[in-house]
Amino acid sequence: MATETKEAQATLSAAYPRSARINARGAIEVGGCDLGQLARELGTPAYVVDEQDLRSRARAYLDAAQRVGLPEVAVAFAAKAFPCTAVLELFAAEGLWCDVASGGELALALAAGFPAQRVILHGNAKSRPELERALEAAIGLIVIDNFDEIARLGELVGRRSDGEQQRVLIRATPDVAGQTHAKISTGQADSKFGFALEDVPAAIEAVRATPGLQLRGLHAHIGSQILSLEPFGAIAEALAPFAPMPVWDLGGGLGVAYSADQQPPAISDHVATLAASAREQLGEHELLLLEPGRALVANGCVTIYTVESVKRNVSLYVAVDGGMSDNLRPMLYGARYEAALVERPGGECECVVAGKHCESGDIIVPHARLAEPRAGDILCTPATGAYTFAMANNYNGALRPPVIFCAEGTARVVCRRETEQDLLARDVR
Ligand SMILES: Cc1ncc(COP(=O)(O)O)c(C=O)c1O
Repeated sequence: MATETKEAQATLSAAYPRSARINARGAIEVGGCDLGQLARELGTPAYVVDEQDLRSRARAYLDAAQRVGLPEVAVAFAAKAFPCTAVLELFAAEGLWCDVASGGELALALAAGFPAQRVILHGNAKSRPELERALEAAIGLIVIDNFDEIARLGELVGRRSDGEQQRVLIRATPDVAGQTHAKISTGQADSKFGFALEDVPAAIEAVRATPGLQLRGLHAHIGSQILSLEPFGAIAEALAPFAPMPVWDLGGGLGVAYSADQQPPAISDHVATLAASAREQLGEHELLLLEPGRALVANGCVTIYTVESVKRNVSLYVAVDGGMSDNLRPMLYGARYEAALVERPGGECECVVAGKHCESGDIIVPHARLAEPRAGDILCTPATGAYTFAMANNYNGALRPPVIFCAEGTARVVCRRETEQDLLARDVR
């Protein structure tokens, strides 16, 4: 039995939360909580979060930032990755800043306790109400994306009677390819985000000529799930013609391991690369901002499902009680995940883990290896903390799953499962 457990333990890849292990019962546990028991007590599907994992990754960023020394490095959590209030509260308590990309995310960040001065607003199509809300809350930085926004924001700050200036950054499209999936690459020249490099001088001039706006610096974000440090080093080089500036924001994008074969750079190396390139290329500055999303939350979470049916139609289909409603990423851009049976990890049975939704593309893991799956088994997919809860939806009347924080053997629901009443809640009769 001891050997079996040891063998099974070897199958938990780096995609799993830091606390994940196979317990004496032979089941996977996270934060000291047995995922099989959790599924029976709290139902499935559910997002199970290793609270300490999130904290430790935030601390890894902060420690790395401290090690690279001056200029000050601040780390902003990109709220879009996991916009759950409890997650935001955790990062606010750890002392991170927050990057928001809409009025809704701004409301969540403020409700979670981020000081307004540590909030950065992004967006390539910010509405007037979103900008008004940001000004009203006196957030730290608005990242301007286009000339229309300069005009819109200028008009709004022009109406202020308090004489306060809004601090802003200008987002540049650095023409640095992120070496990632085209749908999550943002740094290429032909992008919907930010100013083309040749337009940046005119944008700087326009912002400087707008009373009520104070230009603090430039921003660039080249994409997401980037598994090499090389493109990160190139961002500062692309922005160097616009130095000096007091503030540089070099975005997020560090990739994570979704499976055993992916080896992302360490957080400390990511921070060191960005800080060194900023020092070399951008000269003296007061503040270097980083905006990780995925790297803070992806691996800290697993989704648990119940297997509802197993059948062979050429492939062996293992259908679970969730799918594209709780994890849209495989459907959206072919994102890869691993799967395991929570109470029989390991195994060599080749199968397709399918969701329950009315689309043939609703496949969570196309090439899973499981241990003889049966209806009633509890299955988990690791590394589901980033852009899953965020993109969850009600397709087929799905009730969006709860978020359960686990730490030291105690589980607590921090966001409840939706109910059928929630599905009807917006109806006007
Ligand atoms: C402006 C900006 N900053 C940060 C991020 C976070 O990226 P990641 O989750 O890859 O770290 C994003 C993601 O799209 C973004 O658009």
